[in-house]
Amino acid sequence: MLAIIGGSGLSRLGGLVVTARRAVRTPYGEPSCPVTFGELDGCPVAFLARHGYGHTIAPHEVNYRANIWALREVGVTQVIAIASVGGIRTDCVPGVLVLPDQIIDYTWGRDCTFFEGADQSVQHVDFTEPYSGAVRTLIARSAADCGEPLIDRATYAATQGPRLESAAEIRRLARDGCDLVGMTGMPEAGLARELALDYAALAVVVNPAAGLGASEHGIRLDALKGTLETALARVQRVLVAAAHRVAGG
Ligand code: HPA
Repeated sequence: MLAIIGGSGLSRLGGLVVTARRAVRTPYGEPSCPVTFGELDGCPVAFLARHGYGHTIAPHEVNYRANIWALREVGVTQVIAIASVGGIRTDCVPGVLVLPDQIIDYTWGRDCTFFEGADQSVQHVDFTEPYSGAVRTLIARSAADCGEPLIDRATYAATQGPRLESAAEIRRLARDGCDLVGMTGMPEAGLARELALDYAALAVVVNPAAGLGASEHGIRLDALKGTLETALARVQRVLVAAAHRVAGG
């Protein structure tokens, strides 16, 4: 089954006809919210709001382990994670949809593995390609199905938040080769890999990153909302197309 993890602005999935909600218990505590089951244009999907339905859980407070565990527990095999991001590369401007293919983890202090504790042997999962090629292809084809342009390939910087970055931090990320910056990409992607879920992210650029373009002198958070809402309507069309592809229709 296909699951969608909704990020900022996507605590609810427009067009989802809800059939059930399930509160899943995990060994890692509570997920951000119950898993919602429903149909997108007649095709089954599961949905989880990363920040909770009321958008009350900050990026560094999300229980990523419980969220990923819960999705696997309910039978999910493929995950599309929606993320709002700041744009660093010049073509990653507000409103653009991006399909990252690489990630650099700058987060700290988050529970980032299932493989720990005295009763577990040490395991190192391969993360050369952090996102699932199959789900990236699914997203790219779904975007093409509904005529939505998508930037294919970008490096996502996962920062700790919840504050935004300084201009110097963004310059460092740019030197590191990062094209996008967001606060939730890790440890989510790594945990999905540990549980062998096919996981990829679909990023929505909502602002130029700190110190760049219109954010030269600061990021206007109030200006982000409109951009996010318009872009999310396009994301939802892509998700409907993806649900159709997964359902085989
Ligand atoms: N930085 C980090 N996370 C973000 C940003 C940003 O500029 N915009 C949206 N999420």
